[in-house]
Amino acid sequence: LQAGLLAEIERADTLAQVEELRVGALGKSGVVTALLKTLGGMSPEERLEKGPPIQDLRESVTAAIAARKAALEAEELNARLASERLDMTLPAETAPQGSVHPVSQVMDELAEIFADLGFAVATGPEIEDDWQNFTALNIPETHPARAMHDTFYFPDKDAQGRAMLLRTHTSPVQIRTMTSNPPPIRIIAPGRVYRSDSDATHTPMFHQIEGLVIDKGIHLGHLKWTLETFLKAFFERDDITLRLRPSYFPFTEPSVEVDVGYTIEKGQRVIGGSGDAPGGGWMEVLGSGMVHRKVIENCGLDPDEWQGFAFGTGVDRLAMLKYGMNDLRAFFDGDLRWLRHYGFSA
Ligand code: PHE
Repeated sequence: LQAGLLAEIERADTLAQVEELRVGALGKSGVVTALLKTLGGMSPEERLEKGPPIQDLRESVTAAIAARKAALEAEELNARLASERLDMTLPAETAPQGSVHPVSQVMDELAEIFADLGFAVATGPEIEDDWQNFTALNIPETHPARAMHDTFYFPDKDAQGRAMLLRTHTSPVQIRTMTSNPPPIRIIAPGRVYRSDSDATHTPMFHQIEGLVIDKGIHLGHLKWTLETFLKAFFERDDITLRLRPSYFPFTEPSVEVDVGYTIEKGQRVIGGSGDAPGGGWMEVLGSGMVHRKVIENCGLDPDEWQGFAFGTGVDRLAMLKYGMNDLRAFFDGDLRWLRHYGFSA
């Protein structure tokens, strides 16, 4: 029995097999354990005779198992060391380096510029209700501006019976801010907006940034200075020229559309200089105006006490102008070659 067990142990070539042999010999119902149990029923003389060889057997089997186990463990460790060895002379694998998307980068830049002017960042939900997106902004149900926005509506109304939609602009954040914070207010609100529209300069989802100032005695001069300061900082040029054109938005009165001048430098169109220069022109960059009395009233404030201005502009559009990109759709294709081309990814 002893020779057989020891040979089997010697042949075991996995730790699991060794364990199986151990249980079979020394476990509760193992063969060696069974022999040890017979000692109890023997007469003292018999035990004196048969006891030592049985103890011997137990000791030699225990030792053989321990030795085999140690040998197999050492083998396993050696194999692992060999297979996991690192060759420090091999060239390192290059890990692709990610980068911040141009839209996120421009939003960060804008937040920084406006932070310096004392503006906080406000946010609102992308799923809005009719009242925040339109009605409170002086766009009643029958207003043609609703059709102009190509709104994505949800099939069901909310608990208050309001139509639910994907916000078509960041202007509802004006309402959310005025109804939840006492003036004075100075905020910007960057975020995604949605319109059912798609071509080279329109995508169904795009990004806007809204600005809102509510305080006492605010007038158009404050708006103009703020926009000029922001556009100079954003385009990193002091010779940014603004052209303010009268316009119409239901939620501002008067409303002003703002163009920046571009000129030709080294055969390239660049933002800066007067748009009236030879070869130059004007590029529309944002909509703005003095917040309409009705909007201030809709938010529970007294328009004779509080005035302000608001503006809204496309973040993607600003990124295109700053980095010379020409297809808006490429922003959302996730094509690394495009990002690399404009220096946005390693
Ligand atoms: N919400 C307007 C748009 O999406 C932009 C705007 C914002 C105009 C604030 C005036 C004031 O076109």
